[in-house]
Amino acid sequence: MDKVSKIAVLTSGGDAPGMNPCIRAVVRTAIYNNLEVVGVKQGYQGLIDNDIYDMSRRSVSNILDLGGTILKTARCLDFRTEEGMEKAYKNLQDRGINGLVVIGGDGTFTGALRFSKKYPDIAVMGVPGTIDNDLGGTDYTLGFDTATNTVIEALDKIRDTADAHDRLFFIEVMGRDAGCIALRAGISTGAEAILLPEKETAIEELIEGLKAGEYNKKSSSIVIVAEGDKRGAYDVAQMVQKEVKFYDVKVTILGHMQRGGSPTAFDRILGSRMGFAAVNALINGETQKMVGLRGNSIATTPLEEALNMHEFKLEDDLMEMVKILNI
Ligand code: F6P
Repeated sequence: MDKVSKIAVLTSGGDAPGMNPCIRAVVRTAIYNNLEVVGVKQGYQGLIDNDIYDMSRRSVSNILDLGGTILKTARCLDFRTEEGMEKAYKNLQDRGINGLVVIGGDGTFTGALRFSKKYPDIAVMGVPGTIDNDLGGTDYTLGFDTATNTVIEALDKIRDTADAHDRLFFIEVMGRDAGCIALRAGISTGAEAILLPEKETAIEELIEGLKAGEYNKKSSSIVIVAEGDKRGAYDVAQMVQKEVKFYDVKVTILGHMQRGGSPTAFDRILGSRMGFAAVNALINGETQKMVGLRGNSIATTPLEEALNMHEFKLEDDLMEMVKILNI
């Protein structure tokens, strides 16, 4: 494979706060190393549609604090087809691009791996960007910290009104099949119960806990329901309401506000480190890998391994702790 000389960067799948600092780091690290760099609009769709433009240091000025992604993003079905990949490859070839940095989650990485196996002359490096924190090869994905803080802010506000009215709230939070956001937000806000997809809580157990809370003179209670818990916040609330008469019951689905907002310091630094490392890894001849944070160091992991690991980082000791601290 030729030495990488021209890099394309794209964001794909659900946006995550920290993507912009990462794009900035990719662009500036590439230019510092005398590589050309282009931005691709709307993820893989832009590769197929040839929506690609040259980037300079100034194209990424003043974006560290911006949520979303200046490159836009999409979930692209066409890229799953042979025809779609072929069009994307041709567009890259015509422009002399031989390195690709993809920032996104597992769908993005699956696409990147298939593409790179089919066209190995394009070196590919993944950056884990998703609020869900559900990828192997990294302790934290980009956007997880900001999203968790956004959820905490919302929960604190809901606690105020819940307490004022002596109410029981069921709050559904994002995370796809992972309960990382739910667990961290629950610890940080003293939620009375956290329903996680990784370890289902029986409704009877939940009711028992809430009754114990009432016995212990709790004026309000909050139950966090991770979206991966297939029962959903409304159904759980309905089942509980029949048995828990002492509280007025309300349901809130936090939804997409969890994905927006200015990235935290953690995500700005993580995005910068990962973007910087992704370009350096390509320069060093690495491909079909992702960069990740392990401990406090950046390391690369083969995409295949990262996708297979899917190690959800739910620690049993944290769940045990919640049972003691939040009742
Ligand atoms: O992967 C990020 C995420 O926000 C998940 O938490 C959620 O399940 C999903 O994306 C929502 O996707 P969309 O924005 O396409 O509805």
